[in-house]
Amino acid sequence: MDIGAIRKNFPVTERYAYLNHASIGPLPRSTAEAMQHFLEERSLTGGLVLEGKEGELIYGTTRGKVARLINARQETEVTFVRNTSHGLNIIAAGLPWQTGDNVVGAETEFPANVYPWMNLKRKEVEVRLVKAVAGRIRPEDVAAAMDKRTRLVALSFVEFATGFRNDLGTLAEIAHRGGAFFCVDAIQGLGVFPVDVQKTPVDFLSAGSAKWLLGPVGFGLLYIRQERLDELDLVMGGWVGVEDWRNFFRYDSPFRHDATRYEEGTIAPSLLLGLNKNVQMFLDLGVENISRRVLDLTAYLIEGLKRLGLTVITPHASEVERSGIVSFLPSGDPAVLAARLRQEGVIISQRGNFIRVSPHFYNTNEELDRALAIIGNCH
Ligand SMILES: Cc1ncc(COP(=O)(O)O)c(C=O)c1O
Repeated sequence: MDIGAIRKNFPVTERYAYLNHASIGPLPRSTAEAMQHFLEERSLTGGLVLEGKEGELIYGTTRGKVARLINARQETEVTFVRNTSHGLNIIAAGLPWQTGDNVVGAETEFPANVYPWMNLKRKEVEVRLVKAVAGRIRPEDVAAAMDKRTRLVALSFVEFATGFRNDLGTLAEIAHRGGAFFCVDAIQGLGVFPVDVQKTPVDFLSAGSAKWLLGPVGFGLLYIRQERLDELDLVMGGWVGVEDWRNFFRYDSPFRHDATRYEEGTIAPSLLLGLNKNVQMFLDLGVENISRRVLDLTAYLIEGLKRLGLTVITPHASEVERSGIVSFLPSGDPAVLAARLRQEGVIISQRGNFIRVSPHFYNTNEELDRALAIIGNCH
């Protein structure tokens, strides 16, 4: 990777050491420009822009690129959603719950992956949250929390607070062995780590695009394995989701028999374009190369924090459990340190009593050194 050249496409680097991708990533310059150009054309031509090459790119190729990113067997297993929660709610609303069923999740999950399941309490579905042990969600604890009424295991690819990376393959196997489906909130991992839904048999996977995919806010994707479609009810049907949607006066066209039926109406083309541009960038760079780079950066950061004598709460016994997130306990007041870092142009997040640092592939060791110098001087 030619990081120097890549950084030219990230204007955020001119202003900040931006180490906050677990919160919101910056748009690459080329993506922002493509979206701006599209919006200008819209103001100049109304809907005509969508009839041209731009419309073809947006509507004709985005789904296929996303499918390639996660290696879906067919692109119609991908549907576009507003955010991670929207995707998870499509699953929560669609599965055929019976009174007394349960969902197994974890206590350390971001609330986006808890409330859609808590909302099933009205259907008398129980939510069981496994406790993390030393920042890790242990597969054996997930298995122990399951019983014959477990319909779904719902976990994140990467835990938002600790950065612990769950082993999706093992968890999928545990869920399936127990007769449950496996649903993944992938927002903290997609764009950093390869996801191959053919090798790793997750049933459902939802992710907003604004974090590690560096994409638009308020847009995302949901993967629904084709074989699971018949298990899912269609709670919100609309004209875009039917087979013969171009035939406006026909009201008996069946809903499509794939994930795209969940797009009930027109989706935001400017956001779709942003995602298209970014996914192309990830495909071009190669997600394996990105993982290598991010794991090297976070290893460097962990070493630096340890050298300062700080407690790194991110599990880091081996690389397979690490991610783009490194969290640590500062020696002084975390709010003071967070404010100091921001003052100095180093962008991170404070989460409770710890600080979360989350570099992406275009960041550098020099930027991490800048952060470490401030952290070392702030007691
Ligand atoms: C694990 C996880 N899931 C989901 C979200 C966001 O959910 P949504 O895309 O629904 O806003 C976040 C962070 O904001 C997160 O860390």
